[in-house]
Formats: sequence, C-alpha cells, structure tokens
Amino acid sequence: MIDQATAQRIKDAADIVEVVSDYVHLVRRGQNYMGLCPFHNERTPSFSVNRKRNFCFCFSCKKGGSPVNFIMEKEGLSYKEALLHLAKKYGIEVQERELSDEERQRQSEREGMLVANEWAMKLMEHDMVSTADGRDIGLQYLVQRGVTDAAMKAFHLGYALDSGHHLADEARKAGYDLEVLKKTGLIGTSQQGHDYDRFRGRVIFPILNNSGKVIAFGGRDLKGGLAKYINSPESAVYKKSNELYGIFQARAAIVKENKCFLVEGYMDVIGMWQSGMKNVVASSGTALTDGQIALIHRLTDNITLIYDGDAAGIKASLRGIDMLLNHKLNVKVLLLPNGEDPDSFARKHTPEEFREYVDKHETDIIRFKIDVLLDEQTARDPQKRIEAVNSVVQSIAHIPDPVARDVYVQECARLLGVTEESIIQSVGRARAMLIQKWKKEREWNATRESVAVTPQPADTVGTSSYQAQLDANTALSQQPSRKTDIPFRPLETPLIKLCVRYGYKGVFQPMDEDDDTLIDVLDYVQEELESDGMRFSVEEYSLIFQELQRVKPMFYEALQRRKMEIEEDVARKRREGIEEIGSGSYSIDELKIKESKLEESLREYAASEVNEYVKDWPARFLSSHENDIIRSTSFDLLREKHHLSNIYANAPGNEKEEDRLEMLVPRTILEWKSEILNQRLRELLRKFQDMASNMNIEEEHSLQAKLNSLMKLRRKIAKELGERILLPKSQNSNK
Ligand code: CTP
Ligand code: MN
Repeated sequence: MIDQATAQRIKDAADIVEVVSDYVHLVRRGQNYMGLCPFHNERTPSFSVNRKRNFCFCFSCKKGGSPVNFIMEKEGLSYKEALLHLAKKYGIEVQERELSDEERQRQSEREGMLVANEWAMKLMEHDMVSTADGRDIGLQYLVQRGVTDAAMKAFHLGYALDSGHHLADEARKAGYDLEVLKKTGLIGTSQQGHDYDRFRGRVIFPILNNSGKVIAFGGRDLKGGLAKYINSPESAVYKKSNELYGIFQARAAIVKENKCFLVEGYMDVIGMWQSGMKNVVASSGTALTDGQIALIHRLTDNITLIYDGDAAGIKASLRGIDMLLNHKLNVKVLLLPNGEDPDSFARKHTPEEFREYVDKHETDIIRFKIDVLLDEQTARDPQKRIEAVNSVVQSIAHIPDPVARDVYVQECARLLGVTEESIIQSVGRARAMLIQKWKKEREWNATRESVAVTPQPADTVGTSSYQAQLDANTALSQQPSRKTDIPFRPLETPLIKLCVRYGYKGVFQPMDEDDDTLIDVLDYVQEELESDGMRFSVEEYSLIFQELQRVKPMFYEALQRRKMEIEEDVARKRREGIEEIGSGSYSIDELKIKESKLEESLREYAASEVNEYVKDWPARFLSSHENDIIRSTSFDLLREKHHLSNIYANAPGNEKEEDRLEMLVPRTILEWKSEILNQRLRELLRKFQDMASNMNIEEEHSLQAKLNSLMKLRRKIAKELGERILLPKSQNSNK
C-alpha cells in the first residue's frame, strides 16, 4: 500500500536521535548519544545512538537498529505500520491508492475496521467545522467549554451529525462495506432492518491506541438525552480493558516527564493537556485493569491518580491500589478540592497554579490510605482500627520490593501506633498468602493454556496475575547486591543451566518399563526437588524453571511442525540420493549397500536436526522472552562459559556434556542437597555446642539422635557423590 518512493522518503526523514528521543532521555557523548535502554531494565546507560549512521544499539541487550526497526520493536508494529507511524511523526502524506476488489477482500478484518474508523474519524472532524450543525452545536459546545483549537486537533475531536444516516450514506458513497462499520459499532441495524448511525448529535472523542490507530469512539450527548456518553462496543480492534484514552497523545510526555497522570474522563484528559500536563490518560470511568497498567508501566514507573475530593472520589482512589502496587509502580494520589474534576479545575486555574497544586498535594498512596482509613471515628473504634490496619497491611504486602516494604512497615507502625514487629509479621503472612494465591492462579492458567490451540511464543505471558507476578519479580533485577546473598546460588546455577540448555531433552528411563518415552530433564529435576520439598531459592531461576514447564505444550507443538519439515527434507534428500545412486553403474549388491548407507545417513540427519531443535527452542524462547528478568537471566545462563564443577571434571571419558546428562543432572542435584544438609548439620552442631552445658539428658539425647540421622544421610549422599567425607571442624573440636 505504501509505494517505494514514499517509503524511501519516510526512511530519509526519520532521524534516529529524534525518534529515540520520544522514548529515551539521551545525553550527548562525543559523536554519539547515550541513554537508558528502552528494551530492558537498566540503571547505567548502555543504549547508544549513532546519528551519522542513523542507528541505535544496546550494548547490553543487543537490541536496536534503524529508526524503522526501533519503532517496530518498541511499538510492536509490523514493518509497514512502523513506516506509517514514522510518516505521521514527520508529516509525510502517504497516498494509499484505491484498493482493487481482490485486495479489499484480502485485507484482514482488523485492518479493514481500522481503515474505516480512521475514515469515520476524519469525516466527523471535518463535519464539525464545515457543516452548519457541526459548527453551531458541536464546535460551539467545545469552545464554550474552553477547548482550544490545538486540543481539538490533537485529539481529533469531531461531531456526529444528527440526521441518523449521514455516516451510513457517506460510507456507502466512499465505497466502504457497511458490514465493517457495523463491526466497529459505528452503524447499527434497526429491527426493521434499516441501517442507522449509532452516534447522533454528539461530540466525538476518538479513542486511539498506543500507536495512533483509531480503535473506538466516545460520543458525548449535547441534547440532554439519557446517555451522557455512548462508546463503541468491544470489537476485534477494541478491547476496552487494554486501552487508555489519550495514551497516544501522552506517551512521549509520559516518557519525558517519567510520570503519568491518571484521570477519569475524556474531558479531564483534555483539560490537563491544555494546562500543559500532557502526560495524562484516562481509564474512561472504569476500574483500572492489569492490561492498562502494563501499558503505562512500559513508559514510566510513576503514576499519580487524580480524583475528586468528594466521598466517591476518595473511595474510588482506594480501589485498585493493590494492583498498582503489585506492578511495582510508585503510586501517588491527588485529591482535587471537593466537587472539582481535572477539567473544571484546569479551567478555573492557570497552568502554573495547577502544577503548584499537584506538587503540594500529591500523596504517597500508602500514606494516603492510612490517612483516609484512620479518621477520628476509626481511631476510637478498636474493631474498625483492626480492619484499617489489616487493609494497609494487605497493600504493603503487594509491594514486590522488600526494601520499599520495610520503609512502609516503619511508616505504618509509626502512624498507626502499632509495633513494627507486629506489622512485619502480618505483612509477612499476607505476602506468603498472596504468593500462594498467585501460584495457584498460575497453575490454573497453565492447565488452561495447555489445552489451548497453537499458542505462539510471542503471547505466552498473557494472563494478568501471572504477568503481575512476573513484573513483581523485576524487583530482583534492580538489586544486584542480592545476587550474592543467596547461599545456594552457586549450587543452583549449574542445575538451572542444565535445565535451560537441555530442559526438554528426554534422558531418564521411566520406572514403567513399557513406557518408552524418556523423562525429560525438567520433569526429572522437578520430581527430585519436590520429593525433598526443595525449590530454587534464587527467584529468577525458579521463575525460569516454571516458565519452561509452563510452555512445554507449546514446545511440543513447535517440535511437531519442525519434525514435519525435517521429514520433507529427508524425503527430498532421499530422492536426490537415490537419483545419484541410480546414475552410477553399480552391481546389485553395491546398490544395496549404497542404499542402506543412504538410509542410515538420513536417519542420523533427522535425529540430529530434531536434537538441535530440542536444544535450541528453550534458548530461543527464553532469550526473547518479554519478561526482562527471564530474558536477561537466561541470556546470562546461556552465554556464560559453562564451568563444570570439579567433580564432573574427572568423570570418565571425554564425552560431551550433552551425552552425560544422565549422570550430570542427578549429581548436580545431589551436590546441592548435600550442601543443604551440611548447612543444617553445622547449625545443629552449633546449637549443640551452645546448649551443651545446660541441657538435660533427654534433650541431649534427642538432639544427638537428630544429629546422627543427619550424619547418616550425609554419608549416604557423600557416598553417592563418590566423595570422601570430611567432618566439619566444629565437630572435632566438640569432641
Ligand atoms: N463515561 C461513560 N459513560 C457514561 C458516563 C461516563 O463512558 N455514561 C466515562 C467517560 O469516559 C467519561 C468518564 O466516564 O469521560 C467520566 O465521566 P464523567 O465525569 O461523567 O464525564 P466527563 O468526562 O467529566 O464529562 P463532562 O465533563 O462533559 O460531563
Ligand atoms: Mn467533567
């Protein structure tokens, strides 16, 4: 649809520094620019932009490329969509030629709907200024409400004429299929079978998605009718819970200000935008969803919710807090004076006054919650007080970052007049329960997804609470110090490496002799760990392990497809091979030998292709995973030189690691177990020493018995490991 010349003009116009600057704060460094990489979480800039060569590159995650690549990656667009996106940015008009009938048919439903919406938006924009009704009713209303020309243009405000069939008529004239407009909800059909415009005599607020596509409309009544607003229904292009009004107009400002305001309605967005606070979006009067939060979170960590200062506003502000906290956003609340919404407030005050009000009245959400819940009445009623404390505890438990949780615990204890210990305990319990709950949900989702048809790797992590849990874990990436704090990390690393490299490889003989499918590495590890009540204590590893298990059905489907390809390959090679054999002059016996050799080599070829695929799939899947933690951790695991622990080094033979999995995996687990045991023993011995002097006989006996059984277990494991037992020093000195 975009001709070559136009495409080239767009590419020539797109300046990498300008394009990237919409998303990243760039600082000049000699010839280049540097900034924090927009594709992964980082604290020191490794994202470099080269103006001369017009490309960007992240030294850490290796993503980047031309402006088009950057936009494709960043906005999740196709190549063509990215070009259009850039064309828009640079004001390059793209002449989309008339479609042929065939092309029109081929165009996907979705695309057709978007095209129709775009057309309708322009029509209604046009009608507002160039028809008498548009001007006298629509435009007049907006002007009277103080909406500026700039805002009307930026938000593509329009007017839907009141005739009842104007849009339908125009659509027919322009050659649009009315069925498509029915799908987007612009046109309805009466019971008598007449087509009518669903938006009539209303000011129109087009709803644009993240990349500027018109996906729906909101229409405000101007006649004092029953429905103040009507909105497009959900459709193939409009999933209400994943969209935010104003996101397209706000996104650059959100990145620039590193903050997003969240308001309730269309007019609130426009009012704030006009006051110079362009980093504003609306949830359109409904509770926030995970999808909407994720949309914001891609652009910033800081969100300020703005509400009416009345009771309803305050109540609303407390809803959805926990979900926001769980996404690891810094959440603030701003209450406007009673009866004001951002739109009315913006109209009564200058932008400076508005900004000042924001700076002065923004409150941290937990503090806000404590303030609200702990009004005077509550303070006197013990039952209500307990409820208030519990509710705050719940919120704190949703914060993934332990350091932030600590800060709030202190604050909460101080403000509520409760001891820190009791809050710490309650938060700990609440958090444990939450994690349990998430785990259950995840398992449930996994079972649900395993029966879904042909899921694509790209959208595996879709379910909201699962996503939230993953997001929650990004806390880890930002605390590199914790990497060394986990005592078993060095022992867990080799095991997770084996899982990442060979997870789906069938290696172990099942108990049931009749079953000839081998147990894969993941299942073996899972069973081994579960049987001893163990799990990866390194959160990232645990996450990766679970993720690999979760997507296994998807892997098998992919493998099935790959096997079919390999089969075709083999068939082709066989034909070629046989032709070649046939073209030589061989005796019958020679022919037979040649043929069986060919068959053998084909078998080998197929087996090795399958094997490669089995090994590559998890690596490919994990290293392009949308979750930062999973992607970067597995990238490290796959990239790092694979150091084998010394006990493997003197394993017999020079076989490749891959061929020794049957021995390596159990040993790696055993090493880890043995270290856990060692640690427990040391603890027990220390206890023994500490208490020896004032222990009674029974106590001593019971402790000794415990010790003995642990020692026995340890000897057994050590024997399995083929390692000599060295008693810990503490015991020798104890005797
Ligand atoms: N809303 C809706 N349907 C309604 C009422 C409200 O979809 N019947 C949504 C709209 O997105 C609206 C938001 O909820 O913008 C907030 O509602 P409200 O405060 O009533 O509307 P305002 O945007 O403030 O509109 P106005 O100032 O013109 O009354
Ligand atoms: Mn309003």
